[in-house]
Amino acid sequence: MAALIADRTVDLLLQGYGWLPDTRRRAGNGEAVRTRLLGHPAIALHGPDAVRFFYDESHVRRTDALPGPVLDTLFGRGAVHTLDGADHRVRKALFLGRLTDPGAVASLVRHVETGWRAASASFGGRETVLFDEVADVLARAVRDWAGLPVDDARVHAMARDCVSMVDGFATPGPRHLRARRARDRQEELLARAVREARTTAAVGEDTPFAAFARHRGADGGLLAPHTAAVELLNIVRPAIAIAWFTTFAGHALHRWPRTRDRLRDDGDGGGTGLYATAFAHEVRRFYPFVPFVGGLGARDQEWRGEPIAEGGLVLLDVYGQNHDPDLWPDPYRFDPDRFLGRPPHRDTLIPQGGGDPRTGHRCPGEDITVAVLATLSTALARLEWTVPPQDLRIPLSRIPTAPRSGFRFVADGT
Ligand code: HEM
Repeated sequence: MAALIADRTVDLLLQGYGWLPDTRRRAGNGEAVRTRLLGHPAIALHGPDAVRFFYDESHVRRTDALPGPVLDTLFGRGAVHTLDGADHRVRKALFLGRLTDPGAVASLVRHVETGWRAASASFGGRETVLFDEVADVLARAVRDWAGLPVDDARVHAMARDCVSMVDGFATPGPRHLRARRARDRQEELLARAVREARTTAAVGEDTPFAAFARHRGADGGLLAPHTAAVELLNIVRPAIAIAWFTTFAGHALHRWPRTRDRLRDDGDGGGTGLYATAFAHEVRRFYPFVPFVGGLGARDQEWRGEPIAEGGLVLLDVYGQNHDPDLWPDPYRFDPDRFLGRPPHRDTLIPQGGGDPRTGHRCPGEDITVAVLATLSTALARLEWTVPPQDLRIPLSRIPTAPRSGFRFVADGT
């Protein structure tokens, strides 16, 4: 018998970021809309109240929520993203606290600054692809910051593999196969490094790598080397993924040169200031990266009168919410001033999830992302560059998307 609502997986593949916002518009812009995805009935939620509902684990759970093809590319089997309850809290604690506290964020930013200075010294006069350069700078920075035993000869391959994992998670075909191979390769290398570190004194060192190698789960046992590798990649891969936001930052600086002048005048000479932070928030709001996040109904319940069955798919419309005119006046205008002196509301700006990262699945790397993005955006604004003719379109049908050219520029040789 035909399902009451036709499956929309093909629409998602064709429409990309437009799929959920479009579904919601056609249904009358409500806060909940019914659809079908990957053969399952789904309800898509929208708005700050929905965010609070979604990030309460008595409403939405994550165990068994993510499809195998997403785990085998983007997150890894056994990742923190797939845990609930005590298992989730104990594992999540590993990503919070010292790993992402202000001192750790500042330390990673220093590594990024050093790497960017070294890389930009060779930009002069040659055409540079921003996405590729930044992915390499981020890979070296996170390698040094996390104490990963990955030598210089392998760090570029690690950057390319992490880019492939993100690039191929939402699509069938060659991009997906590349993502699977990339994950297999990096999991194996890091699992071997964890095994070796446990048999040497190196594991005693105070680095994120050592913290993961030493971490004990809710059952008191060490993480299996494969799981430790998966979680190490859950720092390394998203840190390298800041290359997407940085490329969007380059696009914004080129398109709206006034923001470039403001960034140049920002801060006190060297560092970043309030405008840079506001700019980073606006890049995360305005440009398409995460389309939506999903979980499963934890029990039979209702949301605003709409029934949600236990085990039913629940989606949170990230891209749609970040462009909702009721939340963001003139949402398709790029305007960092929205955030100047006004930090974003926890459950309104949700490019990296919502709720409280300590109790739910919100990204623990948000402070890192904002600080690194603000730093790289300011550094870019201070470059004298020429932007040659190129295809700067950002196709919304592709997940994840980016300017087709990767954003090419030629920096002044002087
Ligand atoms: C979770 C986005 C950077 C580590 C998430 C989630 C999103 C996200 C949407 C899922 C929220 C949910 O499931 O409800 C991003 C984006 C980033 C970024 C767009 C920038 C490119 C980082 C960084 C780290 C990180 C730098 C490293 C510390 C994680 C981890 C989780 C997560 C470990 C799983 C949290 C959990 O399940 O409790 N991120 N993230 N992310 N992110 Fe990020």
